[in-house]
Amino acid sequence: MPLPSLNGQRVAIIGGSSGIGFAVAECALAEGAQVVIASSKAANVEAAVRSLSQGASGSGVDVSDEVSVATFFEGLGAFDHLVFTAGDWGPHLFSGPIAKMDVGSASEALKVRFWGALIAIKHAQGLISPNGSITLTDGVLAHRPRKGAPLSTAFGGAIEHLTRGLAVDLAPIRVNAVCPGLVLNEKLNRSRELVRQQTERQLIPRGADPSEVAQAYLYLMRGGYTTGQVLIVDGGLMLT
Ligand SMILES: NC(=O)c1ccc[n+]([C@@H]2O[C@H](COP(=O)([O-])OP(=O)(O)OC[C@H]3O[C@@H](n4cnc5c(N)ncnc54)[C@H](OP(=O)(O)O)[C@@H]3O)[C@@H](O)[C@H]2O)c1
Repeated sequence: MPLPSLNGQRVAIIGGSSGIGFAVAECALAEGAQVVIASSKAANVEAAVRSLSQGASGSGVDVSDEVSVATFFEGLGAFDHLVFTAGDWGPHLFSGPIAKMDVGSASEALKVRFWGALIAIKHAQGLISPNGSITLTDGVLAHRPRKGAPLSTAFGGAIEHLTRGLAVDLAPIRVNAVCPGLVLNEKLNRSRELVRQQTERQLIPRGADPSEVAQAYLYLMRGGYTTGQVLIVDGGLMLT
C-alpha cells in the first residue's frame, strides 16, 4: 500500500490566515495539496495567500454569519479535508471570578470557536469526499483547568465531545480534533512573561511553534483509520 499523502488533495482551512491554520496550510502545500484558506478579514487572507507557495488560494468567510459560511462552501465545491482553527481573542473570553461574569458576553465566547465550527461543518459535510476528514481545534485547558478560566475548559470539552458525536454521525468522513498547549501566535509572541509562566512546568518548557502543532493536523488528515480522536500536543503538560 502506498504511504498516505496529501498530494493532489483539496484542503480547506478556516482560520488559515494566521497562527496554527497558516502553519497547516504551509505543511499541506509542501506535501502537494491544493489549499484554500479562509478567515473573516479579506486583507488578512490576501496577505497570507501572498506569503504561501503556489497551490494556495483564499477567500473571506465569517463563521459567525451562516450566510457567509454557506456562500463560501457553495463557491468552494467538492474537497477532501476541512481544518477548523478559527478563533477570536476578544474580551468575551472571560477570565476571572465567576461572580463577576457577564453571562451575555461570556456566551459570545462560543460563537466563533464552537458554533462557528458547527455551522462550517453543516455547510461543508456534503462537499467532503467519503475518504476525507474534518479536524477541529480545542485547547489543553479542557484537561488541565486553570483557576479563573472555567469557560475555556467547558469550550474544550464541548469541542471534544462534538468530535466524537460527529465521527459517528458523519462516518465514513473521519472527524478528529487537535488539542494544543500554548502555541506562539502573533498575540502571545508579545507576552513573553505570560508564555514563561504558563509553560515553565511542562516537560518541554516553552511555547510551541505553530509548525510543530500543524503536524498533528497533517497526521489526522492522512490517517485513514483514525476517527473520533483527540490528539494532544502540549509539550508534556499533561504529565506534570
Ligand atoms: N495559540 C494558542 O496558544 C492556542 C492554545 C490552545 C488552543 N488554541 C486554539 O487554536 C485556535 C487558533 O489559534 P491560533 O494561535 O492559530 O490563533 P490566531 O493566530 O489568532 O488565528 C485565528 C484565526 O481565526 C480567524 N478568525 C477569527 N475570527 C473569525 C471568524 N469570525 N470567522 C472566520 N475566521 C476567523 C483569524 O483571522 P481573521 O482575523 O482574518 O478572521 C485567524 O486566521 C484558537 O482559536 C484556539 O481555539 C490556541
